[in-house]
Amino acid sequence: MAEIIDTRTDPEAALSRAEEVLSEGRPVAIPTETVYGLAADATNPDAISHIYEMKGRPRFNPLICHVSDVAMAEEHVAFDPLSRRLAEAFWPGPLTLILPLKTTSKVHPLASAGLDTLGVRMPDGFSRKVIARFGRPLAAPSANTSGKISPTTAAHVEADLGEKLLLILDDGPSQIGLESTILKVEGDAIRLLRPGGLDVADVERLTGTTVERPSTAGATIEAPGMLASHYAPGASVRLNATSVVGGEALIRFGGMTINGEENAAVVLDLSPSGNLREAAAHLFDYMKRADASGAATIAFGPIPKEGLGEAILDRIERAAAPRDGGLV
Ligand code: TXA
Ligand code: MG
Repeated sequence: MAEIIDTRTDPEAALSRAEEVLSEGRPVAIPTETVYGLAADATNPDAISHIYEMKGRPRFNPLICHVSDVAMAEEHVAFDPLSRRLAEAFWPGPLTLILPLKTTSKVHPLASAGLDTLGVRMPDGFSRKVIARFGRPLAAPSANTSGKISPTTAAHVEADLGEKLLLILDDGPSQIGLESTILKVEGDAIRLLRPGGLDVADVERLTGTTVERPSTAGATIEAPGMLASHYAPGASVRLNATSVVGGEALIRFGGMTINGEENAAVVLDLSPSGNLREAAAHLFDYMKRADASGAATIAFGPIPKEGLGEAILDRIERAAAPRDGGLV
């Protein structure tokens, strides 16, 4: 069973134990502001292999490397001026940039899945301290079995991977609750590879550039992990429900009551006041709770596709996708 250290009461023990486990080439579950990550030394192929094995993740799906400052990022990737501006504006924070790998980088090709680019992010919160202490980038996917819902609490991680892990750092619920927004700059264009915790509108406001969505950019899926079913709860998922069939679990938004909800196995409101940030922070936990109710189907009420609603709906649509075939 994993050892769990509370970073709020015992920050020094958390840092020194994490450094120890990471140095042994073993993964540590770390709290980030987006979701909990399964972190390991990005320069050590054995350590990275542990990540893929623990998650049951296909090795062609590259990992994001997490850095504690821009100088650490610059050892491994080359910044174009626009990417640098984005990093300066939004790091530390829920933004991953896809950048060309430097040939001198010591990040192991297992982490980048052999690509000539690397996903890089400077996370906020305690995880950044862990990276600074360790002194090297940490490769970290979300700390869940591949294809399952990402964890936003230490308890989520423990329930899924606790048997396989040595150490989980508990820093309370992730504040954002959705994975990072992934962007790739190409010339003057900024392409969205995954909607996430950074609102694309903030990027457009800063740069004066319209971010290209996959649908407007020729519909090629470029983040290999974005294919098919993902974020799958045990129950099946129904979108845009205007009524509830008895026994279904209902997850709604903005205090909007749904016909027949009195017959639902459980009713959860992502944000009764209609705040999309609050809804994002609750999404994965509520999906897990709805699943735990034993209902065969989770019905989602309508959610506006604006601001973080875009990323929230992306995750729900993936949860609703057919489970067979594709990447899990
Ligand atoms: O918020 C987050 O991003 C969390 C926390 C732990 O930082 N991490 C996370 O990692 O969500 P993961 O492995 O679950 O998702 C990483 C995504 C995958 O879809 C992967 O295919 C894509 O990033 N990715 C990584 N490197 C890439 C690259 N060089 N080019 C394109 N996509 C890449
Ligand atoms: Mg993930």
